[in-house]
Amino acid sequence: MTSTSPVVPRTPAEWDDYFDLRWRVLRAAWHQPRGSEKDDREADSEHLMIVGPDSRALAVGRLHFNTPAEAQVRFMAVAPEAQGRGLGSTILREFARRARAAGATSIVLNARDDAQRFYQKHGFVVVGPAPTIFDAVKHVRMRKKLERPAAGGSRGQG
Ligand SMILES: CC(C)(COP(=O)(O)OP(=O)(O)OC[C@H]1O[C@@H](n2cnc3c(N)ncnc32)[C@H](O)[C@@H]1OP(=O)(O)O)[C@@H](O)C(=O)NCCC(=O)NCCS
Repeated sequence: MTSTSPVVPRTPAEWDDYFDLRWRVLRAAWHQPRGSEKDDREADSEHLMIVGPDSRALAVGRLHFNTPAEAQVRFMAVAPEAQGRGLGSTILREFARRARAAGATSIVLNARDDAQRFYQKHGFVVVGPAPTIFDAVKHVRMRKKLERPAAGGSRGQG
């Protein structure tokens, strides 16, 4: 069975697999070279992936902070055979939890037209245009406000 808990890539092989999935899902169909799936924020970002029974990456995503108040999600990618099973949602929810815990008040992202509804289901709203990439893939800017963690402890926890 697939473990649906997101993990941070650690070994060189896990990092290769993580970036390979990004490239296959987000770059290969547009004939973009290896390396185009990375930007200059990799070192100061948070990276998560969900692996399958063979320990290969099935879903990946990345979180970084534009400012202490504003987090950004990039490079959400789920392997085609694993899409629609909640893996992308699991990663996105974990990023929202981490961003909120770090004190951010909102998360932004540039959503592909195709993925807009997915983000809307997670409470993101369209706030403006975003660049079209590879002269082909249209994006919109989306934002989700993060609620403050509830004050006080949770009840009924002994
Ligand atoms: C978009 C993506 C990250 C979503 O991850 P996922 O694991 O497939 O999505 P989930 O199974 O968690 O879906 C959650 C909900 O969003 C919906 N959804 C998922 N992908 C969708 C899409 N592309 N368009 C519309 N709705 C979508 C699902 O139907 C599901 O709805 P439900 O809760 O009513 O059943 C993934 O499909 C993907 O990698 N797509 C290709 C690359 C891409 O577009 N990445 C985003 C770049 S901005």
